Amino acid sequence: MRTPLIAGNWKMNMTVQEAGAFADELLKNNLKEGVEAAICAPFIDLPVLAGKFKETDIKVGAQNVHFEKSGAFTGEISAPMLRELGMHYVITGHSERRELFGETDSDVNKKSRAVLEAGMTPIICVGETEEERESGEYTAKVAGQVTAALEGISPESAGGLVIAYEPIWAIGTGKSATSDDADAMCRSIRSEVEKLYDKNTADRVRILYGGSVKPATIEELMSKSDVDGALVGGASLKAEDYTALIAGA
Ligand code: G3P
Repeated sequence: MRTPLIAGNWKMNMTVQEAGAFADELLKNNLKEGVEAAICAPFIDLPVLAGKFKETDIKVGAQNVHFEKSGAFTGEISAPMLRELGMHYVITGHSERRELFGETDSDVNKKSRAVLEAGMTPIICVGETEEERESGEYTAKVAGQVTAALEGISPESAGGLVIAYEPIWAIGTGKSATSDDADAMCRSIRSEVEKLYDKNTADRVRILYGGSVKPATIEELMSKSDVDGALVGGASLKAEDYTALIAGA
């Protein structure tokens, strides 16, 4: 049985003051048992969130990382630095980083391996463009991203991974994939993991859907057998909405 995970991806939102206020608000709510909560925030917010959530099961994560442990990489942050802050997750390969910052499949693989080596869990993002969806190339595209991201990762580590299927055309558009399409793609990703490793590893890996997930749509999405949770942008920015997402999972 895979523990459902509702991870928020705040992107470049929430000042330190706003992050602290979000945490105070969220801590007033009784979050549904049996659903894992995680907030992946801008680097500057990580210490305050780690401190606020220290005595709870709410996990904190980053949205990016450099794959080297240290060195002359101005402006970058390493996995050991994030681990020392108490981070549990690091998002790797988000489409915005691939598109806007030129992140390659190889970068995603190196970052994911660095996250694992530092004792954290990568949330590896994959997903197709609108053109790839319309041309029917989306299954092959996503399978290729999964294969490249998992290169050199052991079966033991792969089973503990989180992969997020985020069709690019659904991100921030209000136009979510249908729950059936999301489930089909999560199943396709799981079968790719089985091909790369074995059934046990494929059954252990958690696969999330991301792309315009809202409190009104989470329940239907989570009713699907191969969807293990959601990676949520806009609807994770308010404690009330995030609480509703967990309740619906
Ligand atoms: O990583 C999650 C994000 O890409 C989805 O954003 O605002 O469509 O939920 P949103």
